[in-house]
Amino acid sequence: MDISGVWRYRELLPFDEEDYSHVVTLGEGNTPLIDAPKAADYVGIKKLTIKHLGWNPSGSFKDYGMTIAVSQAHKLGSRAAACASTGNTSASMAAYCARTDIKPVVFIPEGQIAYGKLSQTLDYGAITIQLKGDFDVAMEIVQDLSAETDLYLMNSINPFRLEGQKAVMLDLFDQLNWAVPDRIVVPGGNLGNSSSYGKALMELKELGFIEKIPRVTIIQAAGASPLYRTLVSSSRELVPVEHAWTLASAIKIGHPISWKKAVRTLNFTDGWCDVVTEQEIADAKAILGRDGIGCEPASATTVAGLKKILELAEAGNSEITIDREENIVAILTGHQLKDPDYTVNYHLDNLYEEALYDTVLVKKSGKINSTFANRPIKIDADKDKIKALLDL
Ligand code: F0G
Repeated sequence: MDISGVWRYRELLPFDEEDYSHVVTLGEGNTPLIDAPKAADYVGIKKLTIKHLGWNPSGSFKDYGMTIAVSQAHKLGSRAAACASTGNTSASMAAYCARTDIKPVVFIPEGQIAYGKLSQTLDYGAITIQLKGDFDVAMEIVQDLSAETDLYLMNSINPFRLEGQKAVMLDLFDQLNWAVPDRIVVPGGNLGNSSSYGKALMELKELGFIEKIPRVTIIQAAGASPLYRTLVSSSRELVPVEHAWTLASAIKIGHPISWKKAVRTLNFTDGWCDVVTEQEIADAKAILGRDGIGCEPASATTVAGLKKILELAEAGNSEITIDREENIVAILTGHQLKDPDYTVNYHLDNLYEEALYDTVLVKKSGKINSTFANRPIKIDADKDKIKALLDL
């Protein structure tokens, strides 16, 4: 159990047991810290550290919380667990449930999740229900169903999920020898991750583990930015986005369930929330790639967002305080291979905000510029031609 980068910190998690036989672990956590010099250059900061949560067993940050939530369901003797998902929660839940006799039931928006994620839920044996509607519709249905039946709800409204995700902060600070960074940047979708970071920071401060509080900076895609819209309108109620839209399908969410807790995180950490365009996300992802660090589009919002807020600060926006010397950690949430279509289309100069396929592409609009494209080269299988091409 101590091999797990989550259970290792069990004194700070909601279990105080003699017997840990209910624990379901796949060796999650312990995700690496990686220096990203090219991305730092692109953003315009001295140094950027990446914590890559995509290096988890199911390829996303969800495993930190899922090991705890599935263990709790296992302890309770649940027979079936359910979640609505843009793909990663469902992949993670399916994997952990496969280790038990809990039947995983996942609700995903039809045609709106990346293939890598769909392939995982199928492989792990989940009952996979493709709903006509978006994530927000799926979330509403699964919440009702879990209230009316004994389906155990596994979305991040489940407190055990958030408790587990606190371990991202523990894992991070442990790796940094408790030298707390100035800023932690994270993508915002259903807002569970940022909520759990806030809770972890509050508890660590109260327990005396840390003095300094890093500023949590949440970045959303412009077309799916309910938290941002809520904050800029100073609304006390969520300003939802109907038919939220982004190519970063992981965060295509208009009614985030944990928005109040995310606001609490921002208040507690003196944080910031901003939005980035599809073009900014695509370019930031390609730059991370040049550092040898792949990620899915949602994760690249972090680098795009940092670049944007530095530019805003330097253009005189006095509300933003950030400087180029800060010690910044960007949290990458998902593995590059979750959504290879996006990456290939970018490099083939064929990425569109909207694209309709009927075997072949029939309608497209909103071309994304492939600023940092690396196109494949087609050439005859002829050694001399290859030598000439490569100047050998
Ligand atoms: N990045 C990735 C790769 C995600 O899969 C998600 C959320 C987020 C960021 C946003 O995190 O919801 O905690 O604010 N994916 C969920 C899912 C919604 O169903 O897989 P959040």
